[in-house]
Amino acid sequence: MTYTAPLTTHTAQQTNSPQQGMQPSESLARLLDTASLYLHVPFCHTRCHYCDFNTYAGLLPLRAPYVRALLNEIELAGQSVLYPDGSPRRARTIFFGGGTPSLLTVPQITRLLTACYRSFAIDADAEITLEANPGTLDQQQLVGIHAAGINRLSMGAQSFDAYLLKTLGRIHTPDEIEQAVHFARAAGFTSINLDFMFGLPEQTMQHWQETLAQALILRPEHLSLYSLIIEEGTLFHSWTEEGRITPADEDLCADMYEYADALLQAEGYINYEISNWALPGHQSRHNLTYWQNLPYIGMGAGAYSSFQGRRYSNERSPQEYIRILKTHRLPEVESETIEQAQAMAETAFLALRTALGLHLPTFEERFGQPFSTFVGDRLHLVEEAGLLEQADGWLRLSKRGRLLGNAVFLRLLPN
Ligand SMILES: C[S@@+](CC[C@H](N)C(=O)[O-])C[C@H]1O[C@@H](n2cnc3c(N)ncnc32)[C@H](O)[C@@H]1O
Ligand code: SF4
Repeated sequence: MTYTAPLTTHTAQQTNSPQQGMQPSESLARLLDTASLYLHVPFCHTRCHYCDFNTYAGLLPLRAPYVRALLNEIELAGQSVLYPDGSPRRARTIFFGGGTPSLLTVPQITRLLTACYRSFAIDADAEITLEANPGTLDQQQLVGIHAAGINRLSMGAQSFDAYLLKTLGRIHTPDEIEQAVHFARAAGFTSINLDFMFGLPEQTMQHWQETLAQALILRPEHLSLYSLIIEEGTLFHSWTEEGRITPADEDLCADMYEYADALLQAEGYINYEISNWALPGHQSRHNLTYWQNLPYIGMGAGAYSSFQGRRYSNERSPQEYIRILKTHRLPEVESETIEQAQAMAETAFLALRTALGLHLPTFEERFGQPFSTFVGDRLHLVEEAGLLEQADGWLRLSKRGRLLGNAVFLRLLPN
């Protein structure tokens, strides 16, 4: 799933035009009637030292039964969200996330995509992304994935520093990142994202500058830059507790973020979400689904869905997930109804995490109520403190507000 860095460690500059990217280009009513599809692939060669995603090393033999289960779920999920006239639900994007979806074979990926096309009405120009680890890619596989219909590749590069890659527990070298991008270009990919992390133990500003310079030589259409979060249950967490590693301090993280933002904007990238930069026309439509609080259907072990006022999640264990699907049941284990007030607060919260902010006319169209009525005087104090700014129908966090985002978000909650 999308990894969103905490606002509190960032001091992003807001210099983009609000028209670029965040305002839905289609009517809101139509968008709310569609879904984005997420397929989770919970396998990795080894576990990176910082990662707490629902993914497992040593389970590669489960790939074939897992794919069979996922094919089954795609069919069941498609049936569960048919339009009232019995036609399949329209889907605008498909995202193979993980884990490491690039560990699946080309025939497996092809079968999963074919199943999506059978059970959903996929847009002709759908964005279809596959997350990949550069250490798992070869030329032939990339040609096959591209021919299967994947039109966007998202690679976890993390750093161009060999020592830092080792510290992170990555299975690839800096050269393999470069090679993977060249292979992907040769295979025909014209939309590539690279993920990088900053605020790493022992990472200096110079490391970061060199990594960004090397990334820019590859000219990816999209960059996601995440500030390291030390997650409980990871090796990084125990190493921090034991004093074996020390994450970068907040000021250095903020400097790294500001350096990256200025550099990328000068190179023509738009900072359309706090952690995401894209060349014009390459904003991730799938990730915008989450930030615009639009419907999505997650399939696979531990995947989350948000659809028609309900949020639900699947069984997390791959073995148990496979077992449930053998009985032709949906693997949903938790579900909650999203009341209107909660949906309003969440829509505002998610949008305020983006660089462009909340589009007030769209909010009113969606909920039949102006944002000012919903929020009452709850934001007065933070507005007076200069944490928010408003222009051209957009409400967004000010530079200071980005550092103190939680103070704003807490006040969005209905009384
Ligand atoms: C599912 S992974 C990407 C695909 C693939 N599994 C890989 O790592 O190459 C999504 C991204 O989240 C980021 N990420 C994961 N754990 C993180 C953490 N603890 N702090 C910051 N970013 C993290 C990494 O940049 C990673 O590439
Ligand atoms: S390869 Fe990606 S999903 Fe797997 S452990 Fe590493 S960061 Fe997590």
